[in-house]
Amino acid sequence: MSELRLAQRMGRIQPSATLALTARAKALRAEGNDVIALTAGEPDFSTPDAIRASAVAALQAGGVVDRYTPASGLPEVRKAVADKFQRDNGLNYAPDQVMVNCGAKHSCFNLIAALVDEGDEVIIPAPYWVSYPEMVSFFGGRPVIIDTSSTGFVLTPEALKAALTPKTRLVLVNSPGNPTGAVWSREAQQGLADVLKGTDIAVLSDEIYEKLVYDGKHVSFASLSSDAFERTITVNGVAKAYAMTGWRIGYAGGPKHVIAAMGALQSHSTSNPATVSQLASLKALAEDPVELPGWKAKFVARRDVIVAGLNDVAGVSCTCPGGAFYVFPDFRGLLGKSHNGRVLTDDHALCDALLSAAHVAGVPGSEFGAPGFIRFSYAESDENIRKAVERIQKFASELT
Ligand SMILES: Cc1ncc(COP(=O)(O)O)c(C=O)c1O
Repeated sequence: MSELRLAQRMGRIQPSATLALTARAKALRAEGNDVIALTAGEPDFSTPDAIRASAVAALQAGGVVDRYTPASGLPEVRKAVADKFQRDNGLNYAPDQVMVNCGAKHSCFNLIAALVDEGDEVIIPAPYWVSYPEMVSFFGGRPVIIDTSSTGFVLTPEALKAALTPKTRLVLVNSPGNPTGAVWSREAQQGLADVLKGTDIAVLSDEIYEKLVYDGKHVSFASLSSDAFERTITVNGVAKAYAMTGWRIGYAGGPKHVIAAMGALQSHSTSNPATVSQLASLKALAEDPVELPGWKAKFVARRDVIVAGLNDVAGVSCTCPGGAFYVFPDFRGLLGKSHNGRVLTDDHALCDALLSAAHVAGVPGSEFGAPGFIRFSYAESDENIRKAVERIQKFASELT
């Protein structure tokens, strides 16, 4: 028998490059190399004890935790999500305007499935989170990429306006952003909302890094005006803020019919997110864990070390991000140089050389639509951040 044929749509997506690189770094480490992987997008802290304890208590109580819940989430969890949106973001969603998903990635996937038809255009500011264009392409949409690297990683109203066509269906907003850590101000977001006024274009505001803002203030796109509220689906989750990446709980708020459509899809695909994770998230949604301020202080200290260290390398420039736990330095000044006879032709070659020679793993900027840059995650121990910086500096000093 010949090899089983895959659906044509599978040709439109690639496996996640971040996960592939993390795997390569792990494999090198398994061979005995002292590799520092600054590739992963997850906090290096443990889930707070209080949240863990509430999951243990739910498991011990049995009953609900053993069972399916409604596909869009337990009523009390949907209420907790609506309360959180009200408390933290000033967003007034009714419980049937919110739902719980298996991670924020799943929220985005369901939303794009629910909104994007074949041929629809989706505006994605670059650098972007790797999964956005993949999801759009998977559903037959056309990603329209707008480079923001010369405007401080912020989408300008002018650039947005110039990209709009009658086929534009959706605009992606991600502040604080992955991979840049950029925090978009109220004014910057208001400028975009003004451009969209009078159109029927939707906005996906991915606010997964909301709690990790160090400079500036988090602003929810939907909170800008009633017009913005009506066109926006706000996505968030417990993964990054509460060190709960493994629990797989995301959530979304938006117009009732959009949430219902996402719920219908979810009811025929994953069904409800794991019940124990929903119950544990109740605790996280009710109040920020006591650990959060300490984590933020650690992230800021690490950010400052890595930004200063990278800016000390001739040919590299690194803006200081206001949020998340990534830096996104510009390495274009090192391209074309050689390391031990190996020419650094592009950011992939550079990341390869950095991993094999200096044992530091970062993700090539091309994966995020920004060739010549590298994303480093500083959700790593202080010691490893310092070591990584020294290794990158040494590597750069060896270039010819
Ligand atoms: C911008 C952005 N959105 C969504 C997600 C996914 O979050 P979750 O783990 O809740 O699926 C990530 C994770 O890397 C992310 O960086």
